[in-house]
Amino acid sequence: MFVTGASGWIGSHAVGELLSADHEVVGLARTDAAAAALQARGAAVLRGDLDDLDALRRGASGADAVVHLANKHDWANPAESNRAERTAVDTLTDALAGTDRPFLFASGLAALPSGRPLTETDASPFSGPDAPRGGAENLALDKGVRAIAARFAPTVHGTGDHGFVAQLVATARRTGVAGYLGDGLTAWSAVHVDDAARLIRIGLERAPAGTRLHAVAEEAVPSREIAEAIGRSLNLPVRPVEAEHFGFLGQFFGTDMIASSEITRTTFDWKPTGPTLTEDIEAGAYAHA
Ligand SMILES: NC(=O)c1ccc[n+]([C@@H]2O[C@H](COP(=O)([O-])OP(=O)(O)OC[C@H]3O[C@@H](n4cnc5c(N)ncnc54)[C@H](OP(=O)(O)O)[C@@H]3O)[C@@H](O)[C@H]2O)c1
Repeated sequence: MFVTGASGWIGSHAVGELLSADHEVVGLARTDAAAAALQARGAAVLRGDLDDLDALRRGASGADAVVHLANKHDWANPAESNRAERTAVDTLTDALAGTDRPFLFASGLAALPSGRPLTETDASPFSGPDAPRGGAENLALDKGVRAIAARFAPTVHGTGDHGFVAQLVATARRTGVAGYLGDGLTAWSAVHVDDAARLIRIGLERAPAGTRLHAVAEEAVPSREIAEAIGRSLNLPVRPVEAEHFGFLGQFFGTDMIASSEITRTTFDWKPTGPTLTEDIEAGAYAHA
């Protein structure tokens, strides 16, 4: 299997899960450090960058499945991240055209309209070059290959996570306040990284074309509960703050990103077993942040 983003947070756990299920893994690595880490795990390495389209083609053409998790995550220039994402998705799916080999790619809940928990039957309303995440979900699902969208909860948590929750913890540590916005009732769904990695493997092994997998263990964790867990773990006061307190993350922390995973669980017999988000925070999973 060819895995982009294999050195990342979700990718490194997915590689471990795939290797332990006896899949062969070739990971895309753009640095010596990423290559060495992959080799140490028992994966093979294809050197290349997301913009190296020949490397993406070679990786996908030689593999029985593709897992696409790399993303530039350039928060200062999201248009460039989205452009690169669209181009990578286009290139990887072109390489799989005419085959039944699965293309499982990272998607998410950010920017999807909410107000109720999203379900797997809710299509993304976005497409085209200006869409959030490059409209990559619909782009991939419309390419006529066995495309599988892995919609990860906005926090894929666990020890060593450097995503949104790590940034909330770091902000609390720096400012001396575990903050939340407004009444703290906006909520995020959450999943433990090991459960997400297992769902990636299950999706690759069993999901048909057009599947939207919801990697969601907890449907809605209110932002105030997240702040309270951070406050308890750092022994800091918990109170409402302004969005600027969180920098760029303020726009996300004040937004509902909630989803059900009922269809994913029943269709694929996926049962999340990891700790909850607040259990992880209180157990010190973010001590590094
Ligand atoms: N973590 C979450 O809570 C979460 C939630 C929803 C969706 N997602 C999505 O899931 C995917 C994986 O997330 P993650 O948390 O595992 O991200 P991550 O830890 O930041 O890892 C990103 C991966 O992409 C690679 N990468 C970045 N820029 C690259 C480039 N120009 N060329 C080649 N590789 C490049 C990184 O390689 P290096 O090791 O060389 O930097 C790394 O392997 C992403 O698409 C993300 O948006 C994540």
